[in-house]
Amino acid sequence: MDELTVRLGERSYRIRFGSGILSTLGSMCRELELGGKVAVVTNPTVEKYYLEPVRASLAAAGFEVHPVEIPDGENHKSGRTLDRIYDALIEGGLNRQSFIVALGGGVVGDMAGYAAATYLRGIPFVQVPTTLLAQVDSSVGGKTGINHPLGKNLIGVFHQPRLVVIDPKTLDTLPEREYLSGMAEVVKYGAVCGAPFFDFLTAESSRLLARDKDILLSAIRTSCALKAAVVERDEREGGHRAVLNYGHTFAHAVESLTGYSKYLHGEAVAMGMARAARLSEARGYARPEDTERIIGLLASLRLPTELPAFQADEYRQAMLRDKKVRDGGINFVFNNGIGDSIVEKVSDWGFLLRDIPR
Ligand code: NAD
Ligand code: GLY
Repeated sequence: MDELTVRLGERSYRIRFGSGILSTLGSMCRELELGGKVAVVTNPTVEKYYLEPVRASLAAAGFEVHPVEIPDGENHKSGRTLDRIYDALIEGGLNRQSFIVALGGGVVGDMAGYAAATYLRGIPFVQVPTTLLAQVDSSVGGKTGINHPLGKNLIGVFHQPRLVVIDPKTLDTLPEREYLSGMAEVVKYGAVCGAPFFDFLTAESSRLLARDKDILLSAIRTSCALKAAVVERDEREGGHRAVLNYGHTFAHAVESLTGYSKYLHGEAVAMGMARAARLSEARGYARPEDTERIIGLLASLRLPTELPAFQADEYRQAMLRDKKVRDGGINFVFNNGIGDSIVEKVSDWGFLLRDIPR
């Protein structure tokens, strides 16, 4: 089995990769010497495909399994759903020796992780991501949380998983649109963290679209390695980890302006990256051919590259609501050529919103 380690001292953990490894989850958890009871948090969509193999594997390894079903969807990433998880943990008698398995996409992972971080002041958890976005991004790095009615991901803590189990076979059931949306975060790593990876993605875009197993596994693995390196350097986003927000300033504005319902997160990130690429060129950090390559790769992966037609002031208001905006300025992530980044505080709205109609 292929694996890599996220090195964070006593919070270090392994990410294990392999087609079909879901059925060995129980023995992997045993190796970690995790305790007797486990709550498997999942939703009805994922449950119908993957709960049974996960349950059977954990039971065969001697764990007492408590499935916890939460509703599917970003609009359920809330305090109310969190209470349902706590209820099930309390009713199931899970104690400080117990652990949680997050089986699903980023919504399940963020919420189950937050429940693990807070239940009994913190119990271990294992990430079993089943969307591409979760496999390359949200399951690694320990950001957990829920939404608040006044904004996305406003409530949360850092709580690193004890293990991440990535089985790309689970992506076989993932709808095309969700798959492509996850691909936007894959492109992000190439654009700001690794030029050779960007070249690889460009060369293999057709096979990625066709979900070629080897190429896809390689792209997932490299994405995780690049993210792990960033997290190891700056676990709590004191500075460097902000590079992972490439494309996200405009993405969050697009999501907010469209009521979080029109575009998937990765689609908004793709638009935001195309915008960031154009601004990086305008700032003198990238050449026109870099911009063309970034936008070209996104387009070849069937991702959108133009912002929706809101006015400059609407974008400005939406960005001002972003939790990452401080003192009227935005820590904007520019691509420095391809494969590197520059994070710079920008308070010149005229520059950020250039070419957007007033
Ligand atoms: P999601 O969890 O809503 O999953 C998307 C859809 O796919 C859901 O309907 C889900 O039920 C379904 N699904 C999941 N696995 C499936 C499978 N194998 N087959 C068929 N359907 C499947 O969305 P997402 O894109 O995975 O995650 C988005 C969330 O992740 C957001 O809440 C975002 O804030 C969060 N996020 C967190 C981090 C982090 O670092 N913690 C990073 C990026 C995003
Ligand atoms: N998804 C951004 C981060 O984990 O920091």
